[in-house]
Amino acid sequence: MAHYQRIGNVPDKRHTQHRTPEGGLYYEELMGEEGFSSDSSLLYHRRLPSAITDARAWDLGNSLATTPNHPLLPRHLKLHDLFVDGAWRGVDVVTGRRLVLGNGDVRISYVVADAPSPFYRNGLGDECVFVEGGAARVETVFGTFDVARGDYLVIPRATTHRWIPVGEEPLRAYCIEASSHIAPPKGYLSRYGQLLEHAPYCERDLRLPHGPLLAEDAGIGADEPTEVYIKHRGGPNGTAGTVYTYPHHPLDVVGWDGCLYPFAFNVSDFEPITGRVHQPPPVHQVFEGHNFVICNFVPRKVDYHPLSIPVPYYHSNVDSDEVMFYVDGDYAARKGSGIGKGSVSVHPGGHAHGPQPGAYERSIGADYFDELAVMVDTFRPLELGEAGRAVDDGIYAWSWAGGKDEPTLDGAG
Ligand SMILES: [Fe+2]
Repeated sequence: MAHYQRIGNVPDKRHTQHRTPEGGLYYEELMGEEGFSSDSSLLYHRRLPSAITDARAWDLGNSLATTPNHPLLPRHLKLHDLFVDGAWRGVDVVTGRRLVLGNGDVRISYVVADAPSPFYRNGLGDECVFVEGGAARVETVFGTFDVARGDYLVIPRATTHRWIPVGEEPLRAYCIEASSHIAPPKGYLSRYGQLLEHAPYCERDLRLPHGPLLAEDAGIGADEPTEVYIKHRGGPNGTAGTVYTYPHHPLDVVGWDGCLYPFAFNVSDFEPITGRVHQPPPVHQVFEGHNFVICNFVPRKVDYHPLSIPVPYYHSNVDSDEVMFYVDGDYAARKGSGIGKGSVSVHPGGHAHGPQPGAYERSIGADYFDELAVMVDTFRPLELGEAGRAVDDGIYAWSWAGGKDEPTLDGAG
């Protein structure tokens, strides 16, 4: 984010002595992107942020292995068939997430959790976690967030944090992990980084961390040795894990300032762009990373030309795989396909797609769509993760042609 923020206790002049009340020094850390040639923040720690006393492998096993989408098929993955019968009990958002789809640029996973996660940071790239249901307190070195249904939480690469589900319901999280940074689309920004008038949201809609957050505020001893789980580059799938032990608690930042920090945004604050005829998919864009975009489809008035057809035209997104996560409402274009809340559709490049039979005609005269979906479009092909394979309905590919008696061989459902 290009918007300067300052929270907590920072010195008037950067890179100068910053003293504790007892006369000691706080330790300044510059956290910067792109070789310190892009956004950065300065964090002031009570202890040395580099002090570790142990390191061990975090075995990610085969959890990040993927299988090509071959033969090429559009697919329906039923995420709500994961974590059934209370299988979410004792699961946490970090170690319990299961890979649905992935490629070298982005990995999409899903988790239902009721347990606090360990402290964690993703050294591979930024994360954008969409909260499908439940609520959580997220503790980060920048401060805390209270997140709930409909929130995106964008967490910069290497931000130490943990997830603590709160409330009666388990937390349902759709996790989009980039190998790059995730930010508002460039087209929404002025040349100096302000969100422009035509953007569907503005700075006021973005929530900052409450902070600073120190260990004692989180009910933890400041000198408590603490493990931090780190996902980083390396390993068979380009990803490996390591657990560091710190001799002190990582929540020791007394203040920070700069333009690099996590932020939250609720999808209900996205103001949809509508028109007389069907608007192109980029109007739904909310964030972007390298080689992928994140869009959302929100409840909205639909096309009001007297001869409009409100559902999408059939389309060939020739450079992209499209992944839609159906969160809420009634998705008119997909009626009859079996898709409902908790479904993911995969529409790969190389296959034209559009509304299911009858939906095109039925939509004429509609003036409002009550739908909520999160879409990730990738420029490189996506492969199926173990969770995606486990909940593939195996029949979606034939839904435009009236179905087929037998599931596809590579479908599990
Ligand atoms: Fe599409």
